[in-house]
Formats: sequence, structure tokens, C-alpha cells
Amino acid sequence: MKKIAIFASGSGSNFQAIVDAVKAGKLDAEVSLLVCDKPGAFCIERAQNERIPAFVFTPKDYAAKSDYETEIYEKLKELDVDFIVLAGYMRLIGEDLLTPYEGKIVNIHPSLLPAFPGKDAIGQALAAKVKETGVTIHFVDAGMDTGPIIARQSVSISQNDTRESLQTKIQEIEHQLYPSVLQKLLHS
Ligand code: GAR
Repeated sequence: MKKIAIFASGSGSNFQAIVDAVKAGKLDAEVSLLVCDKPGAFCIERAQNERIPAFVFTPKDYAAKSDYETEIYEKLKELDVDFIVLAGYMRLIGEDLLTPYEGKIVNIHPSLLPAFPGKDAIGQALAAKVKETGVTIHFVDAGMDTGPIIARQSVSISQNDTRESLQTKIQEIEHQLYPSVLQKLLHS
């Protein structure tokens, strides 16, 4: 059984979708750990409800990124984690995790990359008045949303769409796409 760690910073709806897919037998994996850089984020409560251990930290408490990433790496080793799944983790990954987990870190982003990388991809798409945006799952490298693309799915934007309605459409796709892409990646 492949062991995954999910990194999140916010609500954790993708964390939940992945955990639910495992429970439903649609994803053969064990969610061994939640890593969260925002004490108080709702994803932590979700992990507690699912009895999944959480490593929660405050980046400002550390002198450098490599200090907290070394601590995360120790945790991942202790739990024998094979694969890292970023699900709304709003931080770049540094060498201390990229090197040991080369080719084994994936991210989900709410746009059709390479369009609208970085923060607030949904707001960026609305401001650009494009007719279509979407969801991308990609391997993680040192850049901001730049690694090789694994899967993309588009979402049309209608004139009536608000940030909330577009986010809902995008997240519905994310919650289906992420578990199914992970199943293929982990078992190919
Ligand atoms: C997701 O929509 C994800 O695509 C996005 O954050 C949201 C997290 O939602 N990620 C990024 O913008 C990464 N650049 P969640 O906490 O409910 O899963």
C-alpha cells in the first residue's frame, strides 16, 4: 500500500475528497499524514475527525525554510511516506523535500496552467475576462506552478459567474480529478 502525505493550508476540501476516495475503495493508498503551515486551518479539524496524524507548524518560528522542511522530512521518513500531495498548500517546496522526493510530489492548481499561476488563480481568470479556465495537476519543481503537467480539465466561465460560483465549479472538478489521477500515478 502506497503511503501519501497531504500538504494543505486552508479548508482542506481536496484533503477530504482524497480521504473519502480511499474510504470508498477508489484510491488504493494510505493517507499517513497531513502537513499544515497554518495553525487553526479547517484541514486540521478534518484530519482529527479522520484520525489522521497532523504535523502543524508556523513557518515564522523557524529561521529558514530548510529548518522546517528538514523537520517535515524526518516525519515523512518516520512514517515511510512514498508520495507528497499538495492540496492547497500555498508555499513553494524547497530542495530539502524536492531532492529526496524527486518525481514524487504533485500539486493541484485552479487554472489551466501555464495560464494564471500563483495566488488567486480564480480571481486572475475573472479579471482577464476569459471564457474558460480549469484545473491542472502537475509534478512539482522549484518554480511556482511550473512542473510537468499530468492532467488538465477545463471549466467554462459564464457571464453570471461570481468568484464563489466559479470556485464551486472548479472544486467539484478537483474533488473528482485529484483522486482518479492519484490512483493512476500510484499504480502505473
Ligand atoms: C484548491 O482549489 C487548489 O486548487 C488551490 O487551493 C484550493 C484549496 O482548497 N491551490 C492553489 O491555488 C495552489 N496554487 P481546499 O483547501 O478546499 O482543498
